[in-house]
Amino acid sequence: MKKHIQIFDTTLRDGEQVPGCKLNPIEKLKIAKQLEVMGVDVIEAGFPISSPGDFHSVAMISRELREPTICALSRAVESDIKTAAEALMYSNKPRIHTGIGTSEQHIKYKFNSTPDKIIERAVAAVKYAKTYVNDVEFYAEDAGRTDNAYLAKVIEAVIKAGATVVNIPDTTGYCLPQEYGQKIAYLKENVTGIHNVVISAHCHNDLGLATANSIAGIENGIEQIECTLNGIGERAGNTSLEEVVMVIKQKYPEAYYTSINTKMLNPISRMVSESMSMPVQPNKAIVGDNAFAHSSGIHQDGVIKSRNNYEIINPKDVGVDQSKIVLTARSGRAALAFRAKEVGYDLTKDDLDMVYKNFIDLADRQKEVNDTDLSVMLNQVMALA
Ligand code: KIV
Ligand code: ZN
Repeated sequence: MKKHIQIFDTTLRDGEQVPGCKLNPIEKLKIAKQLEVMGVDVIEAGFPISSPGDFHSVAMISRELREPTICALSRAVESDIKTAAEALMYSNKPRIHTGIGTSEQHIKYKFNSTPDKIIERAVAAVKYAKTYVNDVEFYAEDAGRTDNAYLAKVIEAVIKAGATVVNIPDTTGYCLPQEYGQKIAYLKENVTGIHNVVISAHCHNDLGLATANSIAGIENGIEQIECTLNGIGERAGNTSLEEVVMVIKQKYPEAYYTSINTKMLNPISRMVSESMSMPVQPNKAIVGDNAFAHSSGIHQDGVIKSRNNYEIINPKDVGVDQSKIVLTARSGRAALAFRAKEVGYDLTKDDLDMVYKNFIDLADRQKEVNDTDLSVMLNQVMALA
């Protein structure tokens, strides 16, 4: 039987931590509604204690959305947890996400504490959150750099205290895929009770491995992926939602599935980029402007003959109308004929031979030949023919 991988979107919390990306509550609600329509299972709507605006956003999203679980972040601090619970009061499916750093680095230099005291705080936080909601997710911050044996002790203790989801974040983007996968496998083998809870991956992209690590997590038993649209988030960002969803769809069709309507990936990516004033890099997988653009002659000729020669994803599957044949000085005759046809010129072989030199001269003078440039050039050359 295929396994459902839950998509936990944290665009509105971890994603919004990007400098300069502040969203107001109305903008957040608009994005949350689209996330709901797209089919995400969990929306992390914010960190309610951090500001009245964030509290208000979480409260509004909790009131308006009925389908997804609405999650609010807190530290392992009673006032954070209480405020998160208040913001979630009207949610149909509320979840409190609480946790604490578990790596040696965090225990010593962030908390000036000891491993045993950290476990006590973790357990107390989960028990306190359970007095408000049934669904409590615990995060072991910096789990990527946490010793596996100690991490197993922490996770076992919070499961005993009532955690329903255990999040194993690679907070600093430190792990290699095999290290992260082995960490999950270790927990599955060594933590009593782990089979009764959902294990979640929350990977950061400092070494560009967030998606690869999340997938390694899935291969070792992860059932929930925490991710953001366009991969935005602290520093180099989080696992990108569109990447992980498409890897699952393309590479594991028999083993796993998500509830995401992939046709919404490009439109929602643009909406997030515009409302956050955060451009998407052109070569970004799945949602970048160039993800389905072909500009070299060899590739263009191949794609025109058969799209599958150079594309492994049908652009329509991710909400892009069609692949782009971009005319540059690297383009060949096949691309020129193809684009000329699109602007109304069905060129014969002789026509093509005649216009190609003019086209290359034009393309050498400018980076890209757009439809208007092409029409003007074809008009002029064909008039002389
Ligand atoms: O990166 C991280 O560890 C986090 C936690 C708060 C879940 O964002
Ligand atoms: Zn994070």
